[in-house]
Amino acid sequence: MDRIVIRGEARLEGEVQVSGSKNSALALMAASILGQGETRLRNVPRLRDVEAMLELLRALGAKADWSGAHQVCIDGSTISSAEAPYDLVRKMRASFMVLGPLLARFGTARVSEPGGCAIGVRPIDQHLKGLEALGAKIRLDHGYVEVSTTELRGGRFAFDVSTVNGTQNVMMAASLADGETIIENAAQEPEVVELAEFLGRMGADVSGAGSDRIRIRGVASLRGAAHQVSGDRIEAGTLLAAAAITRGDVTIRQIDSSTLESTLDKLRELGAVVEAGPDWARLKVDGPLQPLQVVTAPFPGYPTDMQAQIMAVLATVEGSSVVTERVFENRFMHVPEFQRMGADITLSGRAAHLRGVDRLMGAPVMATDLRASAGLILAGLAARGDTIVNRVYHIDRGYERIEEKLRSLGAEIRREG
Ligand code: EPU
Repeated sequence: MDRIVIRGEARLEGEVQVSGSKNSALALMAASILGQGETRLRNVPRLRDVEAMLELLRALGAKADWSGAHQVCIDGSTISSAEAPYDLVRKMRASFMVLGPLLARFGTARVSEPGGCAIGVRPIDQHLKGLEALGAKIRLDHGYVEVSTTELRGGRFAFDVSTVNGTQNVMMAASLADGETIIENAAQEPEVVELAEFLGRMGADVSGAGSDRIRIRGVASLRGAAHQVSGDRIEAGTLLAAAAITRGDVTIRQIDSSTLESTLDKLRELGAVVEAGPDWARLKVDGPLQPLQVVTAPFPGYPTDMQAQIMAVLATVEGSSVVTERVFENRFMHVPEFQRMGADITLSGRAAHLRGVDRLMGAPVMATDLRASAGLILAGLAARGDTIVNRVYHIDRGYERIEEKLRSLGAEIRREG
C-alpha cells in the first residue's frame, strides 16, 4: 500500500497551479444524468472520487469516460437503470447525489443509503425532506432509499440545516419538476453556485444560488452542456497552509480567490502576508505568526474541509489557539496523529485547544480521511526528521499529484509503493 514519506523543514517557495474542484466536478457529473445528449467537462481533476463517479454513471448505463487528460465526456441518454448499488455508493458518499437526477428523469430511483463515515454520522434526512416537498414518495428498504413519483412538482420548503449536497440534490430534481420550487436555508457554497450555472447551460431556470434562497422554475427537458470546472478552493487553501507551516512564499494560480475569502482572512490574522488577485493568491511569511481562534461554519464561514490543515499550522505557532468544529461532529481523527508528532492538543467536545510547540517531530502516522491526511502532510513538511503518512489512498481521493506539486515548491517528499 502506498505511503508518503516527507523529510521536513524545507521552506516552500514558488508558484503552483490549482487543479479543478473535486466537489464541483462530482455534482456536475451527477447533473449530467438530467441531460439528453453529451456533457463535456474540462479541468476535471484526476482523482479516485472522480473515477468512482464515472464508474457509477457507467453502471447506470451512461457513456462516461475521460476524453482528455482533464476532460470527461458523459452521455446520459443511454441510462437504462435507476438503481445505484451499495458497492459503488459505499465507496463515496457523493454518489448519493444521483438520487435527485434519477428521480427527475425516470420518476423512480433506488440508491443505497451511504451510511456514516470517518468524519461523522452524516444523515440524509434533509435530502429526503427536499425531495418529498417535490412530491416524491420515499421508502427505506434494506439499506436502500427508494423514491418514486407519478409527477414531480415544484414545492417550497426550508432545510433545517445547511447542506451542500442536499441543496444540490434537490436543485437537480427541481430543474425537471413541474412548476416553481423555492429552497429556503439553501447552502451558499461556491459548488452550489457552479452547479446552478451548469444547470443553466443545460437549459434549466435557476436563480438565487449563492444566497440562502434558491428559486428553480422547472422545464420539460434539459440538454447536455460543456463546462470548465473551477479551481479547487480546498486544494488552494491547503497549498497556502503549506506555505504558512514552512514559513515560505507560495503563489497559487487558477483559483477564483473570491471563493477563498474566509481562509485568506484567517491566514492574514495568523500574521502571514497574503495578497490575492482575481485568479491567484500569494502567501508569504516574513515574521512571527500569531495564535488563532478558528470556528468552522458553512460558507461563507471558515470551511470544515480546511480545519485539519489550519490545526497543523497552529500546532507550530507559539501561544494558545482554539479550533472549534461546528459542521461535523467527529472530525478530529487527525488529533491523535498530530500528538504522535509532538503537537500539544487537548480535545474538549467540539473544541481543540492547542499550545504551539517549537518543532513538530517526524513520525509514522496514519491518514484517516481525506482532509486529515492533508493536515498530516502539512505537519510532516514542518517536522524535524521523517514523517511517513500511511493509507495515502485517502489523499488520492481529493488531491491530484499532491506530492509532485509540493516537490515543485521545494518539499522533500516522495511516494513509496
Ligand atoms: N446533514 C444532515 N442531514 C442531511 C445532510 C446533512 O444532518 O440530510 C448535516 C451533516 O451531517 C453535517 C452538515 O449537515 O453535519 C453539513 O453537511 P453537508 O450535507 O453540507 O455535507 P455534504 O454535502 O455531504 C459536502 C462536501 C464535503 C464538505 C461538506 C461541508 C461534497 C462531495 N462533499 O458534503 O466535502 O465537508 O459539504 O462543506 O461536496 C471533502 O471534500 O473532504 C468533504 C468531506
